[in-house]
Amino acid sequence: MGAARSSAIRRLGVLTGGGDCPGLNAVIRAITRASLSRGIDVVGIEDGFLGLVEDRMRPLAAEDVAGILSLGGTILGSCNRTDPGRVARGKSPDGTPRLVDAMDECLAVLSRRGIDALAVVGGDGSMSVADRFVRRGVPVIGVPKTIDNDLVGTDLTFGHATAVETATEALDRVRTTAASHHRVLVVEVMGRNAGWLALGAGIASGAEVILIPELPYREDTIARVIRDRAARGRRHTILCVAEGARPEGGTTVVDKVDPTRPDPIRLGGVGRVVAEAIERLTGVESRCVILGHVQRGGAPIASDRILATRFGVRAAEMAAEGRFNRLVAWRGGAIGEAALSACVGAQRLVTPDEPLLRVAREAGASFGVPE
Ligand code: F6P
Repeated sequence: MGAARSSAIRRLGVLTGGGDCPGLNAVIRAITRASLSRGIDVVGIEDGFLGLVEDRMRPLAAEDVAGILSLGGTILGSCNRTDPGRVARGKSPDGTPRLVDAMDECLAVLSRRGIDALAVVGGDGSMSVADRFVRRGVPVIGVPKTIDNDLVGTDLTFGHATAVETATEALDRVRTTAASHHRVLVVEVMGRNAGWLALGAGIASGAEVILIPELPYREDTIARVIRDRAARGRRHTILCVAEGARPEGGTTVVDKVDPTRPDPIRLGGVGRVVAEAIERLTGVESRCVILGHVQRGGAPIASDRILATRFGVRAAEMAAEGRFNRLVAWRGGAIGEAALSACVGAQRLVTPDEPLLRVAREAGASFGVPE
C-alpha cells in the first residue's frame, strides 16, 4: 500500500488454529488491512500450525481479504490435530505413530520466509503452542477466538455471540414442536469444560433446565422440575445441556477417542443420556437434538464482526509498536491486553459467583442441582 516502514517488524505471519468459529475471516481481514497500512507485509499460514510445519503459506494482499468480512470459517484453513512439538511421522516399532519435535523446522521456515513475528488467532490450545514459540524467541501476538468463551485473560472471544444466537434460535424452534406434542426436548450444545454457551443460550431461550459442566446435575432434580411443571399444566419442558455436563459423582459422555489429536477425547451424547433418564423417571416422551457444528458454522453476527475487527486492528497496532507476547483482549468493556503466558494452561470457567447463574435462577431456570 506504499506506506513508509516505521514498524517494529517487516513481515507478520498470520494463522488460525483450533476449532473454527464465526469471525475468523473478519479478523484476518482486519489484521491484513491494518498491517499493510503500517508497512508490514502479511503472510497467511495455511491450516494453523500444520502450515508452519509443512511450509505452506501465501502472501496476503488487500484484495485477498476483500469480501470476506461476513463469511463463516477461515480462508486460511485450520487444524486442531497439529502440535509442532509432537508431529506424527511414520510408525514406531510397535505400530503407533512416531511423534517427532518439529519446532526447529518451524523456526527454520519462519527465518527462510522472513517472517519476524506471528499473529496466532486461536483458543487455549493454540495459545499454549504460541507460548512455546515465544519461549523459542519468536515474537507472538495472540488473538482470542472460540465459541466456548473459555479463554483466560479476556472477558469475551469473538464467535461466542454468534454461537449463542444460533443455539438460541434452535432452542426457540424446538420449543414450538415440544409444546405441540407435550414432550421434553433436550438440546445439546458445545462446551467441553465451560458452560458459557449453554448458559447464554439457556437464558436467552428461557430453557427451564440448563446443565453446565461446572455444576454436576442430579437426575431426580431434573425429573422434579418436569413433574412440577406438569402439575401446573405445563406439559412441555426445554433443556439446554452442555456437551461436558455430567451427573453428580459421574463422568462426561465420550463420543470417540481420537489419539491423533492433542486432546484425544471427543465429547457428545450427554443430551441423549439425560433424555432417556427423564423418560424413565417421569414417563414423559423425551427427545434429544445435538446441535454440533451447526453452532460453529455460518456468518458471524454483527457484534462478532465488530469484535473481530477491533481485535485484528489492535493486533496490527501491537505488531507495529513491537508489543509482543501479549494477548489482545476484551476487558471491562474495552479493548485491552494480557500477558500471553498468563493465558495458557487454564480455562475461564463459570464460577459459583457468576452473576448470570443468579439471573437464570431468578428467571426460573434450574441447573439440575437441589436449590
Ligand atoms: O471450539 C471448541 C469446541 O467447540 C468444543 O466446545 C468442542 O468440544 C470442540 O470444539 C469440538 O471440536 P471438533 O470439531 O474438533 O470435534
